[in-house]
Amino acid sequence: MPPRNPNSEKILDFVVNKGNGIKGLVDTGIETVPDLYILPIEERLLPNNILPYDSIPVIDVSNWDDPKVKESICDAAGQWGFFQIINHGVPLHVLDAVKEAAHRFFGLPYEERNKYWAGNSPTDTVTLKTSFVPQAEAVLEWKDYLSFRCSPRDLESFPLWPPVCRDEVVEYMESAKSVIRKLLEVLLEGLKVKQIDKAREYTLMASPIVNLMYYPHCPNPDLTAGVGPHSDISTLTILLQDDNGGLYVRATENDSWIHVLPINGALVINIGDILQIMSNDRYKSIEHRVVANGSKDRVSVPIFVNPGPDAVFGPLPEVLESGEEPLYKEVVFSDYFKYFFSKKHDGKKSMDFARI
Ligand code: OGA
Ligand code: NI
Repeated sequence: MPPRNPNSEKILDFVVNKGNGIKGLVDTGIETVPDLYILPIEERLLPNNILPYDSIPVIDVSNWDDPKVKESICDAAGQWGFFQIINHGVPLHVLDAVKEAAHRFFGLPYEERNKYWAGNSPTDTVTLKTSFVPQAEAVLEWKDYLSFRCSPRDLESFPLWPPVCRDEVVEYMESAKSVIRKLLEVLLEGLKVKQIDKAREYTLMASPIVNLMYYPHCPNPDLTAGVGPHSDISTLTILLQDDNGGLYVRATENDSWIHVLPINGALVINIGDILQIMSNDRYKSIEHRVVANGSKDRVSVPIFVNPGPDAVFGPLPEVLESGEEPLYKEVVFSDYFKYFFSKKHDGKKSMDFARI
């Protein structure tokens, strides 16, 4: 990485080493975007690259057993990799409560937030971080996030989690469980998998992670990345966003992007790399990015539905049954996870790790 100017070094120290996060920097009252956060022009999301009339599908899942609903889900997973669901059964008050909990946590004074900063946290099941991988990034992302590992075993450390948001995180996760299960059943049925047995369950969904993402208002969001273009490494991601918008999904045309319109009460679903690999490319893990807001603090709450750490995944036998060549080899999830977190967000490059 090229050397940084002294001011960027100072900011890096304040934000990352001292654990103030970008939230702490915005609280100092900065009126311009520091160099450390300014993207080169070719990496910015330019208005010309946004397709104004396109949107990802919105699917009403009030009846999961309706063959048309199942078909819409599998089609959306194959064509778009992204869709929104409405009437999914997770109560609105649970969704509102977890968004409020995110604001509450990030509204805490520095000393309170800092107790959970990576390295300080009383448990490795909850960690506060900034950007994505600051030590590997020339330009930092305009976001902080509090990350919760949420497998049943991880939940044993619940008493050590921040009291201002832990109940809401668990309630959101618990209420979303049946939606996650239904989505995976439908998507796997679309791949000719009849039933999700215990072993499959471990590979598909054993280690969920819930993040409270916080994108403080930014003096000039067009210059920065809230999150840079990437695909998720999960099997599925369930994302709750607020009404500020700012999430963009890559369209099929080169370098054009579609805005994910906020719909009150909806959940945004996207296919992650693992499910693309298991489906041998039937389902698509599509790149997406976030742009912070110029005047409001944006929150979102993704649930990354991840395999157990030692789960081995690859194209499913049911998919290869008719003699199709596998496009990916078998990979241990923890190896894939480490690879993803060893570099900056870089589109879909993580998938090369598994490609044959
Ligand atoms: C992510 C992500 C989107 C958002 O954390 O992987 O894409 O709206 N987040 O925060
Ligand atoms: Ni993502």
